[in-house]
Amino acid sequence: MGYQTLLFEIKDAIAFITINRPDKLNALNDQVVDELAHAADRVATEGAIKGAILTGAGTKAFVAGADIGDLAKQGPFDGKARALRGQAMLRRFETCGKPVVAAVNGYALGGGCELAMACHLRIASEHARFGQPEVKLGIAPGYGGTQRLPRIVGKGNALYLILTAELIDAHEAHRIGLVNKVVPPGELLATTEQLLRSILSMGPLAVRLALEAVDQGLEMTLEEGLLLEANHFGLLAATQDMKEGLTAFLEKRAPRFAGR
Ligand code: COA
Repeated sequence: MGYQTLLFEIKDAIAFITINRPDKLNALNDQVVDELAHAADRVATEGAIKGAILTGAGTKAFVAGADIGDLAKQGPFDGKARALRGQAMLRRFETCGKPVVAAVNGYALGGGCELAMACHLRIASEHARFGQPEVKLGIAPGYGGTQRLPRIVGKGNALYLILTAELIDAHEAHRIGLVNKVVPPGELLATTEQLLRSILSMGPLAVRLALEAVDQGLEMTLEEGLLLEANHFGLLAATQDMKEGLTAFLEKRAPRFAGR
């Protein structure tokens, strides 16, 4: 698939995915959603890709939401179908088994905030602004905002953002736990890449199972989640990576993980 609305570049095992509609503040129309779904599939399935960074083109926006022009035309059934399509795309990134980091370079509103939340980590430029302003438009979040936001920042903070439609700056987003780090705009991509490369230097199977345990475990009882964790812990003992990681420590050298 050739992309019209995305830039997709693989550099040294990292897929750099840039939503590229800067004149519309990178709003998610149906084509962007379809292309992002395809890109998420590539991240999940291509062996040459070990992790991904999502960002927005231009200096103003990460993604300023779902495309309001599209929403204005929708009826109840295509509205539901649109929400399900967007949710499935985000879930594909979330469950791709490889670390995905959002480099939030500007407005991350509505679907943009939802896209960032489906990434495993979020690094924000000092210029970034976050919000779920849907109720202002007479709609409610449809790409997972009502579900992921309370899981990330707690019910009180999530309801505050969703009900007031207020936009918050990067420092407030950091304070409530919505972003992991805030950096000057000029350092955003380099910091994000450095962070992802440091994760890629860890045992990839361990990273994959940790992602899965946190994702699945949040929906389980504590007992079930602990059992899942113990199963993963045991499973990793069957990998060459575990032997390599522990041996390298004991031999006081850097590990060379093979992902096996
Ligand atoms: N959907 C479609 N187009 C959008 C958009 C969206 N979510 N957000 C911005 N755009 C478009 C604008 O219509 C404008 O297009 P035009 O130049 O053809 O008129 C262009 O992007 C630039 O946006 P503009 O509003 O002129 O920039 P601004 O700096 O004055 O304001 C925002 C920036 C982000 C505050 C404002 O664009 C905004 O409120 N956007 C909608 C945010 C939102 O409600 N998102 C949730 C949607 S569910």
